Amino acid sequence: MSESWSKSGWRSRPRVQMPDWPDRAALERVETQLSRYPPLVFAGEARALKARLAEAAGGRAFVLQGGDCAESFAEFNADIIRDTFKVLLQMAVVLTFGAKVPVVKVGRMAGQFAKPRSAPTEKVGEVELPAYRGDIINGFDFTPEARLPDPARMLQAYTQAAASLNLLRAFSKGGFADIHRVHSWTLGFTGGENAERYRTLSDRISDALDFMTAAGVNGESAAAMSEVDFYTSHEALLLEYEEALCRIDSTTGLPVAGSGHMLWIGDRTRQPDGAHVEFCRGVQNPIGLKCGPSLQAHDLKRLLRLLNPANEPGRLTLIARFGAGKVGEHLPRLIRAVREEGARVLWVCDPMHGNTIKSASGYKTRPFDRVLAEVREFFAIHAAEGTIPGGVHFEMTGKDVTECTGGLRALTDEDLSDRYHTACDPRLNASQSLELAFLVAEELSTRRRDLARAAT
Ligand code: PEP
Ligand code: CO
Repeated sequence: MSESWSKSGWRSRPRVQMPDWPDRAALERVETQLSRYPPLVFAGEARALKARLAEAAGGRAFVLQGGDCAESFAEFNADIIRDTFKVLLQMAVVLTFGAKVPVVKVGRMAGQFAKPRSAPTEKVGEVELPAYRGDIINGFDFTPEARLPDPARMLQAYTQAAASLNLLRAFSKGGFADIHRVHSWTLGFTGGENAERYRTLSDRISDALDFMTAAGVNGESAAAMSEVDFYTSHEALLLEYEEALCRIDSTTGLPVAGSGHMLWIGDRTRQPDGAHVEFCRGVQNPIGLKCGPSLQAHDLKRLLRLLNPANEPGRLTLIARFGAGKVGEHLPRLIRAVREEGARVLWVCDPMHGNTIKSASGYKTRPFDRVLAEVREFFAIHAAEGTIPGGVHFEMTGKDVTECTGGLRALTDEDLSDRYHTACDPRLNASQSLELAFLVAEELSTRRRDLARAAT
């Protein structure tokens, strides 16, 4: 590291998007307690993810990152975790078919609780209260009591993350994710064309597996197909929580964030001299950096140096989130900045956060077509620049919600009120997620064909 670092060094930097805790003594008690608890992840896992992200940066793997905008204490049960995990497995299968490379699966799960907000307060009629900042900080109800930041919520978030991760590990390694069960990941309500397409794909996979068994393929390669590696990620927003879970990795002697495998820095907290960059630069986990339209090339260059001084592949993922119609204006200039620095990065597309609009019915929504358009622009720019589109980042759920408009089932503005459950941003439902995976897979196979043609 270029400059000395400590896990509390961020405290002397400007802090944005973090609460002013009313009860300092209670905060300190929680921090002490959390700092004695076991970390949620093992440093070796974070290093393994870094190695896989490096593969994706080189085009030898593709990243699928997805899950809730904000996990919630109220919406917490085994079915929700299982269904989101199922959809991610389905999407990964579809993408593997398109990309013909391994898909690295990363959940926005088991720790994605804290939210940056565009305004510090929320007004309903004449009443103005502090904004909701995620269940790890305050409550969603529009009352002064609920909106008061409460440090005890960090303990509940830790417990929920631990239980979620426990189940995800069990699903990943315990047989549920066995590729032979590819048919069983289908969700009851995902009917129609997407489900049909998925069934056809599953049949082809089953046939291929039967063929391999008949041909005598067994041993290690067959065993590898009975489980998956699944990683967790969240925005490193609440630094008191992140610091309390930071540990020294006994293998390398280096600090590691124990709250999840991968952390990212949000578009509103990426100030090069700010608290969030300061914390993240010192932990050895893979780090994501959200890149929105306001990111200037000179700031990106500073961030590349600060966050990845050794230019380690897999360390830094740039998550582009410009909005449909704006990728051409911003991505090329940032690709140029990366090139000028000689920096090794992984480019991932988040087509959600630049495409949020207010619907006529008053709900925050995202039109499916805009989401898809941004993904397509992302691929086209990378093709033109000769750089690698390494992955996608979605806000999605396994539930049959009505939060984003469009898709094959043509959800309309009027439908939004039916099952609008998100605690924060609108998510793709299971059917829309699967549909998007098919469309991204098409982009990937076109790209593969183009590259093959160029090589001959
Ligand atoms: C998010 O990923 O939920 C988020 C708030 O993103 P961004 O920082 O890109 O706006
Ligand atoms: Co969001």
